[in-house]
Amino acid sequence: MKEVLEMRKFVAPELVYGAGSALLAGQYAENFGARRVLIVSDPGVLECSWTTAVKNSLNKSDIETFIFSEVSENPQDVEVMKGAEFYKENNCDCIVAVGGGSSMDCAKGIGIVTTNNAHILSFEGVDMVHSPGPPLICIPTTAGSSADVSQFAIITDTVRHVKISIVSKAMVPDAALVDPTLTTTMDLQLTAATGLDALTHAVEAYVSNANSALTDLFALDAIKLVSENLVPVIKDPKNIELRGAVMLGSMEAGLAFSNAILGAVHAMAHSLGGHLDLPHGECNAILLPHVIKVNFPFAVERYTNIAKAMSVDVEGKTSEQICDALVEKIVKLRKSAGITRSLKDFDLRKEDIPKLASLALKDACMITNPVALLKEDIEKIYEAAF
Ligand SMILES: [Fe+2]
Repeated sequence: MKEVLEMRKFVAPELVYGAGSALLAGQYAENFGARRVLIVSDPGVLECSWTTAVKNSLNKSDIETFIFSEVSENPQDVEVMKGAEFYKENNCDCIVAVGGGSSMDCAKGIGIVTTNNAHILSFEGVDMVHSPGPPLICIPTTAGSSADVSQFAIITDTVRHVKISIVSKAMVPDAALVDPTLTTTMDLQLTAATGLDALTHAVEAYVSNANSALTDLFALDAIKLVSENLVPVIKDPKNIELRGAVMLGSMEAGLAFSNAILGAVHAMAHSLGGHLDLPHGECNAILLPHVIKVNFPFAVERYTNIAKAMSVDVEGKTSEQICDALVEKIVKLRKSAGITRSLKDFDLRKEDIPKLASLALKDACMITNPVALLKEDIEKIYEAAF
């Protein structure tokens, strides 16, 4: 009964989940006393009508809006600094992010840069943010990153070519309006990649050294929801109930990982993303089975529970057989979702592996992996994923 007695902190924003919640943006911004809102979005999301719908909701509450959309797939330090300048130039007093993890992480960065008058890279690490940013409302358009509920922001350092992690309670948005309707415009590839990212969040949070009774609840349910509904939603992308199930799973995974942190898959994916600007969700999808093979002996009971949550038959099986069955299940899910590339399909050379492994070893997510991996172990995982 140790786990239920352990004292643990759990941070989360005010949440509104459900169809239509995005249109509460005006009401929420008004409650925060906003008069001039910076909307952070990205070019892809701008093409859909979601940014306009949120803008209209804000304007209806007599709030002026200023759109900043110079955000890359892996948001960069220079973009955050440019967004912060734009925020100041327009005397904004609140930020609303409409987009995937990139827009939301960039918005979080803009917020702390403006309040603290410091460069975004100076916040790297855990608890390095002195003053919280202005009110921040996040409206996700993907079901995966969960930046809308997390205390993380991942920003690319364009000089060192690494992704830095900013982890702080000050990064938790003030409100998250989680509206599954907005995920209906994701193409199938993005649906698959973000879904696999969400599954990885839940798996890594569940086996993390920092797990707790509370994060376990969200992580296990997220594993069930995402693994059951991801392939069906890819086959029927306009089905709002299936979109809702994956969005709910993604949100739960976010609540779990924001508080239990992640592990080797994310540490290694950050290293790939920073070095070569590779897509985050796909990197996780490729690495997850290989990391499970290495981690499994150090968290047998927890991985067995994950296997059960994914409807893997574990009855009468040895731990090795359960590991194989779980890995097989994830590989099958990944293939059925349409993710078939391996690391060799990217512009990546085997000679890059030692450098990638060194960077992954230093990533904040590596600390909570269930076993302390050595640089050689990480190199072997990268090699296996080629
Ligand atoms: Fe992720």
